[in-house]
Amino acid sequence: MAQSIRDQATVRRAGEQDLRAMAEINTASFAGNQGDVEKALEWVRCWFRAFPLYQYFVVQVEDKVAGYVGWQLHGGFLRSQPVIELEQVAVAEQFQGQGLAPRLCEETMDMVVEWVCAQNPHVQESVIAVVWVYTINDPALAVYARQFRDQVQGMRNQYGHRSENMLRATIPIDHHRQRL
Ligand SMILES: CC(C)(COP(=O)(O)OP(=O)(O)OC[C@H]1O[C@@H](n2cnc3c(N)ncnc32)[C@H](O)[C@@H]1OP(=O)(O)O)[C@@H](O)C(=O)NCCC(=O)NCCS
Repeated sequence: MAQSIRDQATVRRAGEQDLRAMAEINTASFAGNQGDVEKALEWVRCWFRAFPLYQYFVVQVEDKVAGYVGWQLHGGFLRSQPVIELEQVAVAEQFQGQGLAPRLCEETMDMVVEWVCAQNPHVQESVIAVVWVYTINDPALAVYARQFRDQVQGMRNQYGHRSENMLRATIPIDHHRQRL
């Protein structure tokens, strides 16, 4: 039986060679760069260079970058309860609706938590993960609601009058530490 796109896909850390494809997905998905791929490339490259404060991952199908996610670390590198934010995720339109975002978000959350635990000897019981989402973004809410199990913990109106909710997850770190 043919493998589904979701099963075929691979999730990995982004490299310099992925940035243009990510910029193209960014312009198709978000208004912030007004459809200008070169500006989006500049934007994506800035975040890419902010590693490890900001960490990008891509999901690849065959030889194509199908989507990306960016995670931001908050409040310093040695917090006893680190906070990470899923800052942006997007999947190219032709690959949407096939479960790529859940794979991308779940697997990379694990990878970032593992990275944090390997670097930070002060971590005690858990890592906190947060994500802000427009209250009307149903596809994104569908993805996040399963993963951010503490559910809605905050609200803001940052961009005009479009309200956003913050969903949170508390991730116990025992199983991450054991794998190190
Ligand atoms: C949000 C997003 C990343 C989800 O990616 P995805 O790989 O399509 O995720 P899924 O395949 O799990 O689909 C998510 C849900 O939306 C639904 N969906 C996906 N594409 C859809 C579409 N084009 N029209 C309507 N519903 C759609 C799916 O059925 C699923 O709902 P379900 O879990 O109840 O079945 C993707 O829609 C996207 O890139 N959107 C634009 C950027 C964005 O809004 N990012 C999030 C804010 S940073």
